[in-house]
Amino acid sequence: MATLKLGVFASGRGSNFTAILKAIEDGRLNAEARVLISNKSGAGALETAESRGIQTAVINRPDFESRDSFVSALLSCLEENGVNFVVLAGYMKKIPPEIVEAYENRILNIHPALLPGFGGQGMYGHFVHEAVLKAGCKVSGVTVHLVDNHYDQGPIVAQRAVPIETCYTPDEIGAKVLKEEHKVFAEALQLFADNRVEVRDGIAVIKADS
Ligand code: GRF
Repeated sequence: MATLKLGVFASGRGSNFTAILKAIEDGRLNAEARVLISNKSGAGALETAESRGIQTAVINRPDFESRDSFVSALLSCLEENGVNFVVLAGYMKKIPPEIVEAYENRILNIHPALLPGFGGQGMYGHFVHEAVLKAGCKVSGVTVHLVDNHYDQGPIVAQRAVPIETCYTPDEIGAKVLKEEHKVFAEALQLFADNRVEVRDGIAVIKADS
């Protein structure tokens, strides 16, 4: 079993980040949070990291003169903190291809619906749950997937269905799905710590627990 050295990207409140930290504390996830990177100085996830003595960095494209210097700053931050696995926990920006390449099949994202439905550019947060409700779905769910250069399209590592037949609003769906997100993300990460994920022909295959 390998210890994952996590670089976590988050733009918002960071409840998934908190759930990951809890899983580490409880011994359910063999990982260390090395750095929390945000594009937003007011992100709740930054506060969570600071309160626990985890390294933080605000790295935002508009603060850099060029795209190259921005990408270099991201890469150096990950390298300097010894990150060997990247987690997108509510990160609202696209990860540059240079980072996707440097951490090939080592970047996980969480999406609050069952992909490949209800994903793609612009499909985030409230918009996802609104679309699910509008489609009349009785089941939604959580998808944890590896990140490639296309929105919400990398190999799926874990999925959980969430029954939503009693939900009348996007917020109700969101709340039910989020509860499940908080369990599944750490479980999916532990599969990597246990070296149980193998990507073959663009599909993530989960090896049996030995
Ligand atoms: C989650 O719903 C996640 O699926 C999506 O962004 C949201 C982040 O929520 N990618 P939080 O900041 O972790 O609370």
